[in-house]
Amino acid sequence: MSHRKVYIETYGCQMNVNDTEVIFSILAKAGYERTENMEEADVLMANTCSVRDNAEQRIWGRIDQFYGQKRLREGVVTGIVGCMAERLKDKLLESGRVDFVAGPDTYRSLPSMLAAVRPGFPQINVELSREETYADIEPVRIDKNGVSAFISIMRGCNNVCSYCVVPYTRGAERSRDPRTIVREACDLFSKGYREVTLLGQNVDSYLWKGNDGDVDFADLLASVAAISPDLRVRFSTSHPKDISDKVIVTMSEHDNICRHIHLPVQSGSDAMLEKMRRRYTREWYLGRVAKIREVMPDCAITTDIIAGFCGETLSDHEDTLSVMRAVGYDYAYMFQYSERPGTLAALKYPDDIPAEEKTRRLNEIISLQNELSLESNRRDVGKTFKVLVEGPSKRDPKDSCGRASNNKMCVFPSAVPEKGLSDCKAGDYVNVKVLSCTSATLICERV
Ligand code: SAH
Ligand code: SF4
Ligand code: F3S
Repeated sequence: MSHRKVYIETYGCQMNVNDTEVIFSILAKAGYERTENMEEADVLMANTCSVRDNAEQRIWGRIDQFYGQKRLREGVVTGIVGCMAERLKDKLLESGRVDFVAGPDTYRSLPSMLAAVRPGFPQINVELSREETYADIEPVRIDKNGVSAFISIMRGCNNVCSYCVVPYTRGAERSRDPRTIVREACDLFSKGYREVTLLGQNVDSYLWKGNDGDVDFADLLASVAAISPDLRVRFSTSHPKDISDKVIVTMSEHDNICRHIHLPVQSGSDAMLEKMRRRYTREWYLGRVAKIREVMPDCAITTDIIAGFCGETLSDHEDTLSVMRAVGYDYAYMFQYSERPGTLAALKYPDDIPAEEKTRRLNEIISLQNELSLESNRRDVGKTFKVLVEGPSKRDPKDSCGRASNNKMCVFPSAVPEKGLSDCKAGDYVNVKVLSCTSATLICERV
């Protein structure tokens, strides 16, 4: 059964993208080949997300698609891995449409599970682990540009934000050995990668207890940044209750640690924050923002916001709008509250904001953020940035695109012969000056 072809669809967060890379690596060692074409695959799987109900609904549709392939071609095996596997194992098996279900900590067992699959005997492993970090596995990169890669530095989450399913789908928090993280980043750099994003649900609580002392997140950042000044370092996600002055100062001490912090606020109302069990107040949050701005005035701050959480009054909602204005976010991911079965909020608080009202509040949040993003981009017009080129721009192949340190997407001419600036390619650094902008892009010239 060697060289069977595997097709994986990935949903959810960046951590899931990295997990898919880990799965490909594990399966490659077992003789499987990767394919991007579902029609030629022997094994089809979806690496799934449970964070909101609409994420799960989409995946049920994919399961039907996969089942269609199974009926067309003999020997095709289909499965669900990732966060939904953890939450919906029984329902998935009852559907009779999947041959295997594997949770996020069980990917090492995938080769043996696949080998054991027989019609009518689905394989299941949803065990969560306290130790698994896949530290020794070299992910097979699935990104297209060969310039930026994700590195998971920890798994799971020890917070209990009342709305959130992640602690249940991914288990307890555990940090990965920093030596394996630095080794992976060095290896990526030597292969031509120029940017790594360190991933964790709460990177600020990263802690490795080694024989020669503890390594916290700031220490880890400094060691990854020391690999080369030409390797950019990003990270996500920071937790407002845990982001330390040491992290902020460490960032400011390294030009190659990007000037961007993703700092999800979720709500601007203390009453909501309390119910969400975020364990900070609006005042604390704004204090962290002030500290970031004091140390790094050019640091972009982005956020996640939930509209219409349980019992949210109009005045709570106004507090969210006002915190957005007070911070002036550069970018935001915005969601309607979606009740997740089994979470604290689902058990304790009625999901009582009507759907239309949630949508209305969300739309208000989105249109405010559009204004704020545009204002933030306008503030950058006239500034000069060092950009890491990602490749040709989608709109016009004569242009290239890439991100500034503050994570904003810049578009600029690939070559300017009259200035003696030759064609740039993915992985190059170029200097640009911002000429104009939209709410999503900075339009630049090369300088
Ligand atoms: N660990 C990160 C993000 C986890 S999930 C953090 O602590 O911020 C990504 C985002 O999804 C969250 O920040 C939150 O805004 C959103 N989210 C999580 N659960 C949700 C739910 N039940 N309904 C709506 N949005 C949710
Ligand atoms: Fe979910 Fe909160 Fe953990 Fe983020 S910190 S993953 S929102 S429980
Ligand atoms: Fe979704 Fe799991 Fe990530 S629930 S957001 S894929 S940790």
